[in-house]
Amino acid sequence: MTNPSIEAVKLSKRYGSFAALTDLSFKIEGHKCVGFLGPNGAGKTTTLKIFTDMIRASEGQAIINRIPVHENKRKALETCGALIETPEIYPSLTPKEALSMIAEIRGVPREERNKRISEAIAELKMEEWSDKKVGKFSKGMKQRINVAATLLSEPNIILLDEPTTGLDPRGMAAVGDIVKTLKKKNRLIFMSSHLLNEVSDVCDEVAMINQGKLLVYDTIENVTSRFSGNGGSGSIEIGLLKPLDDMTLNKNISSIPGVMAVEKIDSRNLRIRFNGGNENQERLLVSLVSMKIGLISFRPSSSALEDTYLNLIKETQ
Ligand SMILES: Nc1ncnc2c1ncn2[C@@H]1O[C@H](COP(=O)(O)OP(=O)(O)OP(=O)(O)O)[C@@H](O)[C@H]1O
Ligand SMILES: [Mg+2]
Repeated sequence: MTNPSIEAVKLSKRYGSFAALTDLSFKIEGHKCVGFLGPNGAGKTTTLKIFTDMIRASEGQAIINRIPVHENKRKALETCGALIETPEIYPSLTPKEALSMIAEIRGVPREERNKRISEAIAELKMEEWSDKKVGKFSKGMKQRINVAATLLSEPNIILLDEPTTGLDPRGMAAVGDIVKTLKKKNRLIFMSSHLLNEVSDVCDEVAMINQGKLLVYDTIENVTSRFSGNGGSGSIEIGLLKPLDDMTLNKNISSIPGVMAVEKIDSRNLRIRFNGGNENQERLLVSLVSMKIGLISFRPSSSALEDTYLNLIKETQ
């Protein structure tokens, strides 16, 4: 079987004089998970809706597995599962009944339905509650049913629009884990998200857009090394037992080798920017401890992906 692929060819979408997407082109191919990032209103949902033919592009083409979506919707979407804008599930149905209804609507052959539903339920580990009524389920459980629904067509491509939005941290982690499992079955997953940690955690590559235009599409490693703009530098935040006098702050900490800037977040928390990689970070921590300034915590102040994202978005504002 050939590699799954999705391709945007010069996609544009206009609403009156407003351009929601302009000349968006990318080709994503292979078994991987790609994060689709961009600020509110960037055009992520618009792109995903064009890929599922929920809306029509003003210009250009969306292509799934080499088949143009708008021209040949049924064939193009046959091997694609999508979750866009969380659909509500009737509270009086059980997950099994809800999935059965969706399978029927989507035209899954009758003789295949039970098998596909059982497989989807097993893959999302919903066996225990697959016969209970949805009415009492948490948002996270309902979202799992929605993700299960994307599997009914046995897709090799899965499109997800912010699958963890609206979930509490535990629900987010659960859906994040699910995306990781979905990945294992040789699928191409394209997922929009605002959660950079989640994307760094589960995705292999990222596509970033802003104001309807593609900024970059590459592996996370390449994107962060090209655009994080800190030239191998990092920053950490430290917490202190007691407020630090300015003298220690300015003289002692600033003079530790590698330190580029020290910034007070508040009287007991500092942000320190330093250059060099992990070795310098280790040296910095050793120095801070030996200064006996009452160091009680330290953590990286932002991820490389977050730096990159903010830099790229800033440049195009
Ligand atoms: N039906 C519509 N009519 C007019 N403008 C629209 C319509 N749908 C979307 N837009 C506009 O298109 C732009 C892109 O919207 P879209 O929903 O694709 O953004 P998004 O990247 O998904 O944002 P978010 O992160 O908030 O979900 C926004 O400015 C939005 O207001
Ligand atoms: Mg959206």
